[in-house]
Amino acid sequence: MKVLVAVASRHGSTRDIGEVIARELRATGLTVDVRDAKHVDTVQGYDAVVLGSAVYIGNWLAEAKQFGERHRDELLKLPVWVFSSGPLGLGKHQPENDPQALVASLGDIPIRDHKVFVGKLDPSDLGLGEKLIVKMVRAPYGDFRNWVEIRRWARGIASQLSTEPAH
Ligand SMILES: Cc1cc2nc3c(=O)[nH]c(=O)nc-3n(C[C@H](O)[C@H](O)[C@H](O)COP(=O)(O)O)c2cc1C
Repeated sequence: MKVLVAVASRHGSTRDIGEVIARELRATGLTVDVRDAKHVDTVQGYDAVVLGSAVYIGNWLAEAKQFGERHRDELLKLPVWVFSSGPLGLGKHQPENDPQALVASLGDIPIRDHKVFVGKLDPSDLGLGEKLIVKMVRAPYGDFRNWVEIRRWARGIASQLSTEPAH
């Protein structure tokens, strides 16, 4: 069974999450490709898709939304999981986004699960404009990604796929 992990990442931390999900899926015997969402021409040949996007100013990145639009017809027929990576900090996550609004662009594509993972913010990655926004919303700098939670979510996907017929 072949799985596509498609990621939309501006500074790389969402891509790292995609890579860890892929590693966990491969450990269960699945064949997994990790690709930038914007470079995926087709999802044909895959039996399942995991789509992840970083969140910027309350929105998924355009390439994740475009991925959903571009591959809508195929995605309607495949099991699809999605994740968002954004909130920062260990306590009350800030800024807070409505998970349903984040994936609204996927429309009627059925989603098995949408997980919001805590992200990473490194000042050395950011330009002046981004630093100003970060200051305004008082988001904390740091790497808050919870690898245990990410791996657990990936294992849940693998376990569901183990009962699915290949496409
Ligand atoms: C300018 C800016 C705006 C952001 N806006 C949000 C936001 O609205 N909601 C959120 O949860 N995270 C927000 N974040 C945090 C990012 O989503 C987080 O740093 C994420 O891990 C970045 O992923 P990437 O490295 O894949 O681009 C913002 C970060 C920056 C720099």
